[in-house]
Amino acid sequence: MATRRIGIIMNGVTGRMGTNQHLIRSIVAIREQGGINVPGEDTIWPDPILVGRDEKKVRALAQAHGIERWSTNLSACLANPDDVIYFDAQTTTRRADALRAAIAAGKHIYCEKPIATDVATARELAQLADSAGIKHGVVQDKLFLPGLLKLKRVIDSGFFGRILSIRGEFGYWVFEGDWQSAQRPSWNYRKEDGGGIIVDMLCHWQYVLDNLFGRVTAVSCLGATHIPERIDEQGKSYECTADDAAYATFQLENGIIAHFNSSWTVRVYRDELLTLQIDGTHGSAISGLRECKVQSRVNTPRAIWNPDVPNSIRFQDNWMDVPDNETFTNGFKAQWELFLKHVVYDTPFRWDLYEGAKGVQLAELGLQSWAERRWLDVPELTLTKES
Ligand SMILES: NC(=O)c1ccc[n+]([C@@H]2O[C@H](COP(=O)([O-])OP(=O)(O)OC[C@H]3O[C@@H](n4cnc5c(N)ncnc54)[C@H](O)[C@@H]3O)[C@@H](O)[C@H]2O)c1
Repeated sequence: MATRRIGIIMNGVTGRMGTNQHLIRSIVAIREQGGINVPGEDTIWPDPILVGRDEKKVRALAQAHGIERWSTNLSACLANPDDVIYFDAQTTTRRADALRAAIAAGKHIYCEKPIATDVATARELAQLADSAGIKHGVVQDKLFLPGLLKLKRVIDSGFFGRILSIRGEFGYWVFEGDWQSAQRPSWNYRKEDGGGIIVDMLCHWQYVLDNLFGRVTAVSCLGATHIPERIDEQGKSYECTADDAAYATFQLENGIIAHFNSSWTVRVYRDELLTLQIDGTHGSAISGLRECKVQSRVNTPRAIWNPDVPNSIRFQDNWMDVPDNETFTNGFKAQWELFLKHVVYDTPFRWDLYEGAKGVQLAELGLQSWAERRWLDVPELTLTKES
């Protein structure tokens, strides 16, 4: 079989996500494995051109990873018909304009989430992409986490009986930047720059809930800016104008109740940075980035409240690991491979810009719920998809 080259314009790859997840762990990893081998078809060979503002930085990044092409001129890249995909991992507020230009140039689109900071723009982008007849996709990486893939297996087996509730704990302490540098870029803490944990994380919870459990029909969200001032990359203090924690409850179409705490101001006393507890009538599960443990009704210890004596039950001992039973690949890479196959061989890919718009909708409603201090229904996003 021959090799099928596919040119990809990669913008925002000098950033945290762009470099680590999309360039190194996805595209470079795919090239190191010899491309994407599609049974009975040609092997897909990704040929990226890296785009960035800073020539020195983008050249050094390309050279460090054996990439032959780089540029500081996005318009020129978009004008090249040999590169058929535009990928965007820029900061969120820059995405919409770049996507509009790429759609107008006839490129297929793949991008980070959130696709925009408001649902009107998100919907407009999805509709523009559809009208242009191009293929489009948005990163929904949590679905590809080994822990969540194992959880999906548990759900599909019918283990839970009737699922009652989901408790999600996400977060870790992000240093303020004074005595230790922050682990996240400072724009995350400025609303005017597209920051805020509600905008960032509710779109993740939307697709996790929607794909694994059911459609979200209502939301109540309380945000907070616990740390009012931080130190930026230049060592300057700045005011935090965006939320750094969100306490959100969701109702699902099938009666399931989900509550997610998302925080950059929490110290971790959990097995993983994200844990989901699912309780059902016949069993429960704890799932995270890599692990998934279950407890069935017959393994459920009889808990009795008595603070007068030491605990007689080691509750963690009554859970069993769900085995891997397969080799998991990096979630970002797994989704890239599916998207590239979708573009080249028209295989199915359901995480398109419409799905991305649903995440933006939930985030927007979460912010509104916080501002108005009330529950809000989540209407089905009316999308006038062209057939
Ligand atoms: N899928 C996930 O789990 C996940 C996790 C974190 C962030 N993200 C998303 O990824 C995106 C990038 O986040 P990040 O943490 O990598 O941010 P980052 O600040 O590290 O990177 C941002 C990128 O945008 C570029 N950029 C910023 N301003 C620019 C300008 N004026 N002109 C040209 N380029 C500019 C930067 O050079 C850099 O390449 C965000 O939309 C964020 O929401 C997704």
